[in-house]
Parts: sequence; structure tokens; C-alpha cells
Amino acid sequence: MSGTDFLRLGVNIDHVATIRNARGGDHPEPVRAALMAAEAGADGITAHLREDRRHIRDEDLTILMDQLTIPLNLEMAATDEMLDIALRHKPHAACIVPENREERTTEGGLDAAGLHNRLTDFVGQLRNANIRVSLFIEPDPRQVEAAIHLGAPVVEFHVGRYAELDGVEREDELRRIADAAALAAKNGIEPHAGHGLTFDNVVPIAAIPQLRELNIGHFLIGEAIFTGLDNSIKRMRNLMDEAR
Ligand code: PXP
Repeated sequence: MSGTDFLRLGVNIDHVATIRNARGGDHPEPVRAALMAAEAGADGITAHLREDRRHIRDEDLTILMDQLTIPLNLEMAATDEMLDIALRHKPHAACIVPENREERTTEGGLDAAGLHNRLTDFVGQLRNANIRVSLFIEPDPRQVEAAIHLGAPVVEFHVGRYAELDGVEREDELRRIADAAALAAKNGIEPHAGHGLTFDNVVPIAAIPQLRELNIGHFLIGEAIFTGLDNSIKRMRNLMDEAR
């Protein structure tokens, strides 16, 4: 596999914090999981600081920034509060996601086209701070065009719909993702993908040649209950490598 073909794995550790928060103490610590993930072969760590702090909290971010030796990708909503936090901590990357207070997880992509005016300044400020900006969007050419106009260096495609579908509908959605990845790459944007990926559905996504990174959380942390975090990450890594 040549260097440019390599598909990075970002491990999302939010749900280690979900388990910790269920009892209000310190255990299990997200940073410990992040360091183990790095040992197991994760290329980066992803964490979503939500407005309601339901999983990762501000102090987790401080600890992660302090202790991680692999890049941190901070997922965040396009709010003034989150912009201040990102500019203060300066993570390697910031992925702008839509956030609805009532949702169970990030249910759809960011409307980069509709939010163009708000996002222009937002993306500009993050870029000026040398933070690699990524927009979490649907695999839709209109959203890729918006990302091009906004000057985002990275887009992450929301592949949750693909993960939920099967049969012909899944094939159609996979084609939409592949086309959107090709459009992004042709325009100099690095395409990533994430949401809902598992051992059973990762291979066709990992085989899309333009994709450079997958961000995976819930399944890996859930699987770790049965096989350990190290095994769950290594198995995902192998499936991704075999797909390339
Ligand atoms: N990428 C982004 C932008 C996300 O918001 C999420 C979910 O927080 C993920 C990836 C990971 O999704 P999952 O936990 O379903 O693997």
C-alpha cells in the first residue's frame, strides 16, 4: 500500500465518557482509552464536546490535549462557545457538526450550503489558528460545492444512512458516497467518512479510494466489552487495510 493510499482510523472515545458519566465518578477515563487506542494502531482520536456535555467534558479536552501524542479531532457545533474553546485548545483538527439538543446522536450532515454566511467566518478563524477544518456533510454534491466555496480543506461524509440501509438502497447510497468523495478529491478537498461503521459494513466504504480517514466510535467501544479495545481496534484496522 503506498503512502497516499493509506486510510487513517480515527477512534471516537465519546462513549467511554458516556459510561463514566452514568455513575458520576472518574471511571472509565476517556484519556486511558485514547492512549490504549493509540497503542492499538489508531491514527487519531476523535471527541465531540456537545453543548450539553453529555459525554466528553471540558476537562477531558484539557487532559487529551496534554497527554495525546496522536492528533485530536474535536467535533463541535458552529457556536461562539465552541469556537472559543477550539481556539484556546488548538486541536489538530476541528470537525463542524450539526447539533440538536434532543437528538440521540448526530443525525444528519451539516447544511454547509444553507449556513454559508455563518460558516465563512467560523472556518476562517479556525484556519487562521492552523486548525484543520472539516465539515461533516451528507454525501451530496451541493454540500461538497458549499465546502469548496467555504475553503474547507476536509469534508467528512455522514455515512449513517448507508449503515442503516441494505440491498439495492445500500448500493445506491454507497455510489452517492463514492461520487461525493471523487468530487471532493478532484477539487482538492480531503474526504473522510464516519457514523455507524461496524465490522460488517466498513469494507465497501474503506474501499473507496479517495477516502483518507474513517472516524469510528460507538461500535468499537461497544465491541471492546466483548473482546477488549485493543482487539476491536486491530480487527477494524485489518478490515480497512484488506479493503484498500
Ligand atoms: N464522525 C462524526 C462527525 C460523528 O459525529 C460521529 C458520531 O459522534 C462519528 C464520526 C462516529 O460515529 P459512530 O459513533 O457511529 O461510529
